[in-house]
Amino acid sequence: MTICTEFAPAKINLSLRVGPLEDDGYHPIDSRVAFADFGDVLVFEPADQLYLEITGPFAGELPVQDNNLILQAARALARTSGISKGARIQLTKNLPVSSGIGGGSADAAATLRGLNRLWDCQLKLSELATIGASFGSDIPACLHGGWLRMRGRGERIENLPPEASFAAVLVNPGIAVSTAQVFGRFDQRLAPEQFGATEHQNDLSQAAISLCPQIADVLQALLEICEGANRPIMCGSGATCLAGFSSQDGARKAARDLQENHPNWWIQPVTIGQAPPL
Ligand code: C5P
Repeated sequence: MTICTEFAPAKINLSLRVGPLEDDGYHPIDSRVAFADFGDVLVFEPADQLYLEITGPFAGELPVQDNNLILQAARALARTSGISKGARIQLTKNLPVSSGIGGGSADAAATLRGLNRLWDCQLKLSELATIGASFGSDIPACLHGGWLRMRGRGERIENLPPEASFAAVLVNPGIAVSTAQVFGRFDQRLAPEQFGATEHQNDLSQAAISLCPQIADVLQALLEICEGANRPIMCGSGATCLAGFSSQDGARKAARDLQENHPNWWIQPVTIGQAPPL
């Protein structure tokens, strides 16, 4: 029997500039993005209807609901391709939920890729990206992968020349943060003319910290343990933060030390900009 497996890596906004709210209810962004070698895993098998099973460390935080992005992606692909097949989808949820590293978008992108193969829809990447963009701003980026620049709401993708991969540690304080709420707080705190005028690599940091002060604790802990060349950054709309290291051993040691002091934080050493050894 045909079985397709897709990897749904964490999306890392290495920089994120945000402009003022537009009439469509979204903010223009300008972001440099790469992907981690760590993420969720999805397995797709033929079935008469659509089924979704979720296992893995963060399965408990993600109930199987009708509005799950994976099911939305599957239905949208079936509709666009005029297909009435089903699929059994197994998600291993390794990424924390609502954590700024694009887990839901990565899962939706992986679903579009996986079912495009399983159902033999033969849609091009650009067509899958158009479907994905209709229900998640980050889905086109997650479909493309590699090193890229996102603009517009996130749907305008430009490939960037690949840079050297680097070791990093991802840290999440265990608090889900709503992307919509962070953008809403951003609107309250920053006047539109400030677009592009701040020194932060992530324009959403202050808004996210005001909703989830523990992000500041994570950034401080990373600042104390990182090797100094680059300041730690918050990822996306938070609460996950990232610090770069000069070696994987350095990242692993930092992750161990941090975990000892913060047993309730999710802490993951990763490599950014390199496909996983699947
Ligand atoms: O597109 P997505 O569902 O991921 O976005 C979640 C929410 O984040 C949107 O409803 C919107 O409020 C906000 N958002 C935004 N500008 C963007 C992307 C998202 O305001 N570029």
